[in-house]
Amino acid sequence: MHRALAERGGFPTVRLRRLRQHPRLRDLVRETRLSVDDLVMPFFVRPGRRVRNPIAPMPGQYQLSIDALIPYVRKARQLGIPAVILFGIPEHKDEVGSESYSDSGIVQQAVRAIKDAVGDDVVVITDVCFCEYTSHGHCGVLGQDRGRTDVDNDRTLDLLARQAVSHARAGADVVAPSGMMDGMVRAIRTALDEAGFEQVAILSYAAKYVSAFYGPFREAAESAPQFGDRRSYQMDPANGDEAIREVALDLEEGADIVMVKPALAYLDIIWRVKREFGVPVAAYNVSGEYAMVHAAAQAGWLDGWRMTLEILTSIKRAGADLILTYHALDVAQHLNG
Ligand code: PBG
Repeated sequence: MHRALAERGGFPTVRLRRLRQHPRLRDLVRETRLSVDDLVMPFFVRPGRRVRNPIAPMPGQYQLSIDALIPYVRKARQLGIPAVILFGIPEHKDEVGSESYSDSGIVQQAVRAIKDAVGDDVVVITDVCFCEYTSHGHCGVLGQDRGRTDVDNDRTLDLLARQAVSHARAGADVVAPSGMMDGMVRAIRTALDEAGFEQVAILSYAAKYVSAFYGPFREAAESAPQFGDRRSYQMDPANGDEAIREVALDLEEGADIVMVKPALAYLDIIWRVKREFGVPVAAYNVSGEYAMVHAAAQAGWLDGWRMTLEILTSIKRAGADLILTYHALDVAQHLNG
């Protein structure tokens, strides 16, 4: 029925408060429900044994060695969380981030260990990028362009493809390129297919913005750029139409799931992408969003738990099908009662 017709007469015939009186009635008409099935838990994995380094601006989050990571992944699975995403902190960094595409790299080892120890009943997603692996902290290899030092897009594509194939060889189910290089999805899709991994899916960080909200992550992943910033590859927060172009291109290149990142300040982008394309949309509730909630809760200024549920529900209401969030374990525990 048309909206104007349904609400003809208005007040006092129509009283929207009627459906808000009884708590069970509110349950019945609730439109959006957060579910453990929506959640992806991120982990930071580093070399060593029995390492569990707290990440100061992200209370409850740690850099973990592989042996310490396994129980967390098991716990995530027990709570019903379907997927984890891995970020690697390598032993050594170099100009081209060579540990990122080594079959004995930290992420490759972690993927194999998870599949061995936890089994195949968990989706393992790997972040495919260079910023954690390069000495300069940029998301690709550097080159010179008209006197400017910048990430060389096309040389980076070859290495991204190598990295993705190496993750797939280790057993990754989904690879998630996050570097915002032009053509990265096509380069990775082609390389995966050639290597016989046509069933490995691509979750593209399609609309990824330059954001102050990544601050804590760069501490967690030890990936802060050593000079300059990421404005020549990540998107300007002022742009919305451009996100649609980014998503369209990534889908055309073969992305299976497209991501909007960060989430909270970009709910309009999530909404537009979902409406425009009707494909699976992921949203990344990033480190700074997590830090903000914890900081305000620690100060006693806001109820951290209520904020968390409200934020995640809003991200889902905006159109996200899956949410990458550091709150995943806590939220899953809560949803399980
Ligand atoms: C880049 C990458 C970043 C995040 C995920 N992948 C940071 C960046 O672009 O600097 C941020 C995630 C977060 O803030 O939680 N490989």
